[in-house]
Formats: sequence, structure tokens, C-alpha cells
Amino acid sequence: MDHEPHAQPLRRNDLDPDPLRQFHAWYAAARTAGASRPDALALATATPDARPSVRFVLLKEANEQGFLFYSGYASRKGVELQANPQAALCFYWHELGRQVRVEGVVSRLPQVDSDAYFAARPYGAQLSAAASHQSEVVSRRRELETAVEELRSSHGEGPVPRPERWGGFVLAPDEYEFWQHRDDRLHDRFRYRRAGEAWTIERLAP
Ligand SMILES: Cc1cc2nc3c(=O)[nH]c(=O)nc-3n(C[C@H](O)[C@H](O)[C@H](O)COP(=O)(O)O)c2cc1C
Repeated sequence: MDHEPHAQPLRRNDLDPDPLRQFHAWYAAARTAGASRPDALALATATPDARPSVRFVLLKEANEQGFLFYSGYASRKGVELQANPQAALCFYWHELGRQVRVEGVVSRLPQVDSDAYFAARPYGAQLSAAASHQSEVVSRRRELETAVEELRSSHGEGPVPRPERWGGFVLAPDEYEFWQHRDDRLHDRFRYRRAGEAWTIERLAP
């Protein structure tokens, strides 16, 4: 890895006892440091017979419920999460030499939340989500463009209803890890594991 000029030591005393607050401190720092896509996270899912898959999605919010993102319910990830809700996600902020890992169980957001978020999206994005059956095979791009055009002419400029196959997910964390790059690869790592209402924090070897 390239040298990170801004890498700072991560000490036990620097850590917030609440990993969500710790996440928000680092997320804010990543924005301040000019990370180009601080909200991009790699989301790993797995089939019930343990074949993993991973892709990026965008974080919409991290709150007491968990880490929220939006996607297709019938997509590969959606189908895998339906059969096996265990998932892991990972952020990397190069400017600060930091990685955050989060693990837990994923569920769907209530439909009203997905409706509200969908309604607030740009019209073009609404049309694309409604026209595209995410992760299905398409014979050619023209097929997608035609589907968008047909929707556009049937809806005019009116609101596009949220397709039932598209909506929000939330990963409720039971484990976090905060990783800080240090010189000579003697990095700092701290893991939080849920212990009832509180969290147990342990330093891990890099
Ligand atoms: C930076 C980035 C952000 C993305 N954000 C999303 C997202 O928020 N939701 C989504 O469904 N796909 C998003 N994608 C596309 C996914 O990576 C992926 O191609 C898609 O969700 C289908 O994945 P699946 O077939 O594994 O379900 C994003 C891709 C990139 C590179």
C-alpha cells in the first residue's frame, strides 16, 4: 500500500465505546479528508451452501437500526439475502488509511420507508429502477432502453411507483472492526463484538 501521509495511530483510548459513534467519527473524517466515494461499501453475501459473492453498494444511512442501502430484492444479492441473511460489509478510505468491517443480519426496510426513498430519487433513476430487473440476463442494451422509453410514455412526467422488487435493506451489526494503517505494516486493529447492550472491544494483531 502507498504511504498514507495522514495515517494516525489508533489507540484504545481514542475509541468510542459505541461502535456506531466510532463509525460516524471516521465517516465524517473520510469526507473531510476528501475521500471520493466515502459511502461506497463492499457487501458480501453467501448462498446457504456457503458460496460467497461481493459487490459495491452505497450507504444511505447508518443509525441505531443498522447500515441501510437500497437494491433489487430479486437481484443476486437479494436472493442470497432472502435465503441466508448473514452478511458482511466493508469500507476503505485510502486518504486516511482506514478500513471498517461490519457483520450482522440483513432484513428488508418497511415498505413505507422504501416508498419514501424511491419517491425522493431523481426521475431518471426511478425509471431505470422500474425498467431494470436487476441481475437478470438481457440480450442487448436496446432492450433496457426500450423498457425505459415505454415506462416514460406510460407515466408521462408523473411519479413512477416503486416496483415491489426494489427497496431498502438494513444490516443490524453484531460485530465491527476498525483498521488503521501504520508504518511497516504494524497496523492498528480493534474489534467490537456485541455483549448484550454493551460491546466488547479487543485489539487484534495486524
Ligand atoms: C460505487 C458503486 C455503487 C453502487 N451502488 C449500488 C447501490 O446502492 N445499489 C445497487 O443495487 N447497486 C449498486 N451498485 C451496483 C452493484 O455493484 C451491483 O452491480 C448490482 O447491485 C447487482 O449486484 P448483484 O447481481 O450481486 O445483486 C453500485 C456499484 C458501484 C461500483
